Amino acid sequence: MIKIMQANSTHVNGIIKVCSDGYRATYKDLYTKEYIESVISDFYNVARISAEVETRNRQWGGYFVAVDNEHVIGAGGGGLTGEGIGEIFVLYLDPTRKNQGIGTKLLHAITKQQKEIYGVKEQWVSVQKGNRMGIPFYEAKGFVLQHEQKGWYNKGQGEYKTLRYARDI
Ligand SMILES: CC(C)(COP(=O)(O)OP(=O)(O)OC[C@H]1O[C@@H](n2cnc3c(N)ncnc32)[C@H](O)[C@@H]1OP(=O)(O)O)[C@@H](O)C(=O)NCCC(=O)NCCS
Repeated sequence: MIKIMQANSTHVNGIIKVCSDGYRATYKDLYTKEYIESVISDFYNVARISAEVETRNRQWGGYFVAVDNEHVIGAGGGGLTGEGIGEIFVLYLDPTRKNQGIGTKLLHAITKQQKEIYGVKEQWVSVQKGNRMGIPFYEAKGFVLQHEQKGWYNKGQGEYKTLRYARDI
């Protein structure tokens, strides 16, 4: 049975695996291999994920994980960027477990936290232009495209474009 829960230190390696595999699968046709690996090593390393699992505040509500038989098969989290404004910062699934409703469950858990604890009314997410997995998912969840902006993370590769989506919650 799949369980959705707030992550703890026992989930760190599973989160790293899901986010790294998910990132590679999502962006292999969009970014260079070097760029992908540099993002993965900057963001999905043990030190950073361990700290992010321990931290829980308005800006970062901690990781939520989907766990099946002790294995992390999905991970995500968000936080507030302003009064009543939430953001989904990260959401990835094991690439072999997509389209089984697990992303929906994780998004629901993050949304519930943002609404019930922090009174969020408006929720935002950034999706890379050309992300054929993320865009249909968020559109199915009621997010509407607001505008396009230059990719927020780049190492001299500013051509990557980010789409900003929002919905009322
Ligand atoms: C995006 C992602 C988190 C979604 O999780 P998931 O478990 O596969 O999604 P679910 O099965 O819960 O839901 C799929 C929903 O999206 C819709 N959807 C998915 N692909 C679609 C497509 N190609 N066209 C139309 N709708 C699509 C489904 O209709 C469904 O909507 P419904 O619940 O209203 O029926 C997952 O696919 C993933 O990890 N993708 C790669 C990483 C990524 O892009 N992350 C987002 C950027 S942060």
